[in-house]
Amino acid sequence: MMTPERRDAMDEMIVKIRSGRLTRRSFLERATAIGLSSTAAVSLLEACGGTSGNTGGNGSTVNIVWQSEKDSTTPSVYQAVTNDFNNSVGRQKGIHVTWQQGPASTNDLLTKYDDMLRARSHSIDVMSVDVVYPAEFAANGWSKPITNTQWPSSARSNYLPGPIQSCTFQGNLVAAPLRTDLGLMYYRKDIITTPPATWDDLVSMSKEAVAKGKTKYGYVWQGAQYEGLVCDFVEVLYGFGGTILDPNDSKKVTVNSPAAQQALAAMVSWVGTISPAAVTTYQEDDARLVWQNGNSAFMRNWPYAYSLGNASGSAIANKFDIHGLLTGGSNTDGGHSCIGGWNLAINAYTPNGDASWEFINYLLGPAAQKKLAIDASQTVSLQSVYDDSDVLAKQPLFGKLKPILQNAKPRPVSPRYPDLSNVLQQHLYAALKKQETPSAALSAISSSLQTLVS
Ligand code: GLC
Repeated sequence: MMTPERRDAMDEMIVKIRSGRLTRRSFLERATAIGLSSTAAVSLLEACGGTSGNTGGNGSTVNIVWQSEKDSTTPSVYQAVTNDFNNSVGRQKGIHVTWQQGPASTNDLLTKYDDMLRARSHSIDVMSVDVVYPAEFAANGWSKPITNTQWPSSARSNYLPGPIQSCTFQGNLVAAPLRTDLGLMYYRKDIITTPPATWDDLVSMSKEAVAKGKTKYGYVWQGAQYEGLVCDFVEVLYGFGGTILDPNDSKKVTVNSPAAQQALAAMVSWVGTISPAAVTTYQEDDARLVWQNGNSAFMRNWPYAYSLGNASGSAIANKFDIHGLLTGGSNTDGGHSCIGGWNLAINAYTPNGDASWEFINYLLGPAAQKKLAIDASQTVSLQSVYDDSDVLAKQPLFGKLKPILQNAKPRPVSPRYPDLSNVLQQHLYAALKKQETPSAALSAISSSLQTLVS
């Protein structure tokens, strides 16, 4: 993440360019000199200019921009719900939304927001924010709170409590819950007769599937150095009965435990055996493509991969099912999915807060929530969708999610989450690449986290 020196240098550049004391060219030169990629430098420059939030050509339309996380559906379901809004409520109320596709990794999206918000820009009005970041956004004053008048508690009670919790900071709602996400174990029904219960089962079933020539690889997952690796790690860790912070005292780091040693050693042992060596470069879509081409018996991924796996052109359509996460060692309390998901936050600097809320309110409504579930198997936050017969008929996975949802667990909650996560990403990755032993990695993680949480 960003060092304090880099932040100061950036703040200074931003102030200068906004007051006209720096040319575009020197801005870009300085930005690259402090280590920003050229794309990041250009987007920061654009953010300093702030392009949206204006009224349209006829003076009566409010134009707003929604930046989402990456939407892998084709045609894009996010474009579809945006069009639906523009053609209904938007038309009546004089609001037009432009949807912007997001980068593959949540970390890159955070960097984009960080640059925009430090420049106090509103080039994006409605921001899709990963479930792990609202606390940081709220602590920095980057989002407008959602009020009781906008979203009364009678309406809120129709939504899953976990995602609402993830939008709440110091008693205020700082974002609205678009959807949750749950890690799932995907398995090939035509290869695996009974899904595995433990990580050891997964290893032996994978080896057998490969030995019998049924697939190229046993198991694909997310091993690149980014947020997804933290999600995959906590699932294995929780499966072995470990934790990162003490559940009763978030200032106490518990990650350097025998359970964590076993969990990390297991992950390291999969690389280049049941999983391809290249798994250390995989994000969600990399794993999904290997799986969807029929090259793996198992995959860890989020629900979005369900509808894509069954879409026409997929080699494994109707040949797979999903299961909860697995357990390891002597732990018997069942597996735990990592809770992910995306919330919608209103940029604190936009003058178009009301129009932004109208759009968010539309995305929370039954028409949009049902469409996201049916067209993209998104585990939305409106509870009634999980019992909706159209949804269950089109996406049978919804019938299997309740027990998985109940056992799911979050990543640590902290306004310093990005820093915490970076420590984890760095050392977990070094362990997977065999540059650090699991015990060295965990002891380094433990001491850095202790400094961050105390
Ligand atoms: C998914 C999850 C998000 C998580 C990310 C990691 O987008 O919804 O919470 O951080 O994957 O790659």
